[in-house]
Amino acid sequence: MLDGKVALVTGATSGIGREVAVQLARAGATVHGLGRNTTRLAGLETDGVTPHAIDLTKTAQVEALDAIGALDILVHSAGVCTLGPIAEAPIEDLETNFAINLRAPVLLTRVLLPKITAARGDIVFVNSGAGLNANPGWGHYAASKFGLKAIADSLRHEVKPKGVRVLTVYPGRTATPMQEAVRQMEGAPYEPEKYIDPADVASAIVHAVGLPRTADVIDLNIRTGPG
Ligand SMILES: NC(=O)c1ccc[n+]([C@@H]2O[C@H](COP(=O)([O-])OP(=O)(O)OC[C@H]3O[C@@H](n4cnc5c(N)ncnc54)[C@H](OP(=O)(O)O)[C@@H]3O)[C@@H](O)[C@H]2O)c1
Repeated sequence: MLDGKVALVTGATSGIGREVAVQLARAGATVHGLGRNTTRLAGLETDGVTPHAIDLTKTAQVEALDAIGALDILVHSAGVCTLGPIAEAPIEDLETNFAINLRAPVLLTRVLLPKITAARGDIVFVNSGAGLNANPGWGHYAASKFGLKAIADSLRHEVKPKGVRVLTVYPGRTATPMQEAVRQMEGAPYEPEKYIDPADVASAIVHAVGLPRTADVIDLNIRTGPG
């Protein structure tokens, strides 16, 4: 389905991003997978994904990705999530959420946009239900994801006339290490069987980018199912 396409996926060492990278490779794409964890990066190779050790908070490392060559599909999945009420959460948490969830995808998009435009390709932002609704205790993370929604919506208008599609995915609770950490912060049990399977988020993304270019899926709001 994606034979001949080249994709780059951030957050490819874990959770949703890993599933997206592996499923894109299975669909025939050449896939570059980004992350920091060297052990999990090495594991990507067995699934046909080329690993790149990149800290997305380091501007020079992100800018160096300009060297990767042609690119059709860019998927932003890397993210962090901290919880805490506005009155109590350290201001550094706000900065961390903004650095990884908002600044990094904007910078990486700027670096790679000429390639995606040349290919009339696809950009995918993995956002969150928290990018549409800000619940108590979720302010810092939600602010970064609301910002990411604004970037994606604005970018879509800018690049659609050039043939580029921009998709935002808003998953609910998904069974990944991030969700396990979230449940710990909430003081609640981690029950992966009740959450969305990251493979299902990935398959929705792979299906959307594989659609003929007469179709443009702009938002995917994926909630936990009724069970
Ligand atoms: N899980 C959920 O319930 C859920 C729900 C809604 C939205 N989301 C969103 O979905 C996306 C993926 O989340 P996930 O649940 O799959 O999370 P995850 O399993 O915790 O994976 C996070 C990924 O982000 C990468 N990352 C974090 N900081 C980085 C940095 N500074 N530089 C480079 N890579 C960095 C990690 O790479 P290393 O570990 O190798 O550094 C890892 O691959 C995130 O944007 C998240 O906000 C998740």
